Amino acid sequence: MRILSGIQPSGTLHMGNYFGMMRPALELQERGEAYLFIADYHAMTTIQDAERLRAATHEVALDFLACGLDPEKTAFYRQSDVPEVTEIAWLLSVVTPMGLLERCHSYKDKIAKGISPNHGLFAYPVLMAADILAVQSDVVPVGRDQKQHVEVTRDIAGKFNAQFEEVFKLPEPSIQDHVAVVPGVDGQKMSKSYDNTIPLFGASKKELKKKVMGIVTDSKALEDPKDPDNCNVFALYKLFANEAEQKEMAERYRKGGLGYGTAKKELLAKIENYFEPMAARRRELQEKPEYIESVLESGARKARDLARDTLAKARLAVGLD
Ligand code: ADP
Ligand code: TRP
Repeated sequence: MRILSGIQPSGTLHMGNYFGMMRPALELQERGEAYLFIADYHAMTTIQDAERLRAATHEVALDFLACGLDPEKTAFYRQSDVPEVTEIAWLLSVVTPMGLLERCHSYKDKIAKGISPNHGLFAYPVLMAADILAVQSDVVPVGRDQKQHVEVTRDIAGKFNAQFEEVFKLPEPSIQDHVAVVPGVDGQKMSKSYDNTIPLFGASKKELKKKVMGIVTDSKALEDPKDPDNCNVFALYKLFANEAEQKEMAERYRKGGLGYGTAKKELLAKIENYFEPMAARRRELQEKPEYIESVLESGARKARDLARDTLAKARLAVGLD
């Protein structure tokens, strides 16, 4: 089974990104032939600054390798190192009805937020279809917000196949519904837009402590029994603790006598334990830009072999041979 997913390079990653997107993406490498790419062409719909784009792409590559991406198992590459996808996108765009793109929620949401619509933003799902179809992937694991884009991909592939020849394999989305929303320090969804994140890397010990000790809780006194299921500290603790530890902590909440300060300190220790080895690995990798580059290049070679083959078939089918 061939599995493909893409991630936009979009700044400093936080724990919500890790548990919601990175860890599930990394689990894929155990399930089949995995392809994971950094969607730098897509990012250009919003990042239009060469230095920022370069830096964001490099950072996200470092983050994934530090968090356990195994380049032996996953072909990890930059989208722009497989330029065949842009040509495939053009071949697809001529069979893509305008109405299909006009109905895309993600496009409508972005304009509602005040982003001025450029053609790239509108055509975003066609490029995404090209990413997926270029490598003929069977499964595309995405968050709920991207499900429609995979459905659009199936529509476009179906139209192309019907108009010309059966060139493209229709992919199945795999929606990661089981992934819980990670709360931020204020209890809303953790998001870079809400300034409530706990970053994965880059915070000093002191800054991390300040963040964790600042997590919003109710104002119950130390001796009061507390409800673990309505507590941001416990919600975060659960992400790091095994079942026995979760159970034990929940009992201590309910019994009373556990202060939020203590719970926060235990959470902090868990966070440090979990991410410190990755942070150490990241520091090592930071010294080896040529290694990162070689990983991305070899991933691109693998994806490009498939994309070239798909493009040749598509060109033949439309009469551009
Ligand atoms: P942000 O909300 O910080 O802007 P993005 O929208 O760039 O994050 O999200 C990138 C990925 O991380 C998406 O796949 C998204 O589903 C996931 N993600 C972001 N925040 C959370 C969260 N709080 N809980 C679970 N997953 C999240
Ligand atoms: N649009 C996706 C996102 O913002 C990223 C992406 C681009 C992608 N191309 C893809 C995801 C192909 C899966 C498959 O999260």
